[in-house]
Amino acid sequence: MTSFSRMSSRLTMPTSDVWRVHAEAVKRKSRGEDILLLSVGDPDFDTPRHISDYVIAQIQDGRTHYSPAAGEQELRDAIAKLETEGTGKPFHADQVVIFPGATAALYAVFECILNEGDGVVVPEPMYVGYQGVFDAIGADVQHVPLAPPAFDLDVQAVMDRVEPNTKAVLVNTPGNPCGNIIESEKLTALANACREREIWLICDEVYSLITFDEPHVSMLKSTDDFSNIVVIDGLSKSHAMSGWRVGWVIAEAPMIDALTRLASAALFGVCQFVQDGATFALANDARDVEAMRLRYEARRNYAIERLDGIPGLSYYKPKAGMFIMIDVSGVANDGASFSERLLQEAGISTVAGNGFGPTALNYVRMSLTLGRAGLNDAFDRIEKMLQT
Ligand SMILES: Cc1ncc(COP(=O)(O)O)c(C=O)c1O
Repeated sequence: MTSFSRMSSRLTMPTSDVWRVHAEAVKRKSRGEDILLLSVGDPDFDTPRHISDYVIAQIQDGRTHYSPAAGEQELRDAIAKLETEGTGKPFHADQVVIFPGATAALYAVFECILNEGDGVVVPEPMYVGYQGVFDAIGADVQHVPLAPPAFDLDVQAVMDRVEPNTKAVLVNTPGNPCGNIIESEKLTALANACREREIWLICDEVYSLITFDEPHVSMLKSTDDFSNIVVIDGLSKSHAMSGWRVGWVIAEAPMIDALTRLASAALFGVCQFVQDGATFALANDARDVEAMRLRYEARRNYAIERLDGIPGLSYYKPKAGMFIMIDVSGVANDGASFSERLLQEAGISTVAGNGFGPTALNYVRMSLTLGRAGLNDAFDRIEKMLQT
């Protein structure tokens, strides 16, 4: 009888029904129903046309071959330059490994540092995608609440959850789902505390270029000792390039070596012309990235303006990202029942907060992935639903 590994079996276990409303909404929309999909974090913008045009030319130019395991030199150089400019500290291509998306990067990093049963401390509400990585590895996940309404990180609370089996702390700034930003002093304190305890600190910064009221401060800017630091970023969100699958890791040599060996075994290189497109995007993107950032900011502002006019709903004003967390405790028993009602009565798909962790029980997450007209329609529907 053939069989599957423990890892594979762990991935068959239902973790939560976080995507249930979304899945039903997608089905109904594909049948032609008038559904507003505000559940996923996939940018509604097309990849800027000059990037696609450049890549088509690269394909025709023969850039369709194997690529080095750690990534194309030009892309690694471009990322090192980005970090050097962002931090004022020198970064080099040999501190960068390219992956097909931040998800693959996260998976590879945790494969390199955790054995089954090893501990990782993660604040919640957390990005849903982390769960699959932890399930695959069989990690012992310890959560620390990011307490509402400000969703602030308490560094001491994180360190209090460190146990003898803990190998890593994972933070996400700017955060999904909340749109919170962890202050530089806290990142510094966390980096020092993790180093003292000889554990890794992984920082997921995929929303770093979509900030509104205050700039993102990278973990790399907040500490000078990178021996236990791993930063993950990518182009999915900032450049509307989610389907291109481009992500990367920045770390010191021992981690880079481990990741390169794993990338070689598992991937044997990331698509060459896609990496060319990423290099081109990083060199020519300033206007596109800023235009998209401004549109997300306008959507955020419009969403809070409308929410201010709806009795019973309150919200956390996101400082970054492409989501807004709405507190529905004034009108529903919890986020799950409200999310269900929104789909059934208003044709709007959101994600119930409990999917991100118990702290967000009374919230629903709404994506800012529709323009003004779409959001206007969504809030009109919500208003009407709550008046009946
Ligand atoms: C916080 C966070 N990290 C990582 C990812 C995955 O990004 P990628 O598309 O690069 O795999 C997402 C996507 O939603 C995210 O929100």
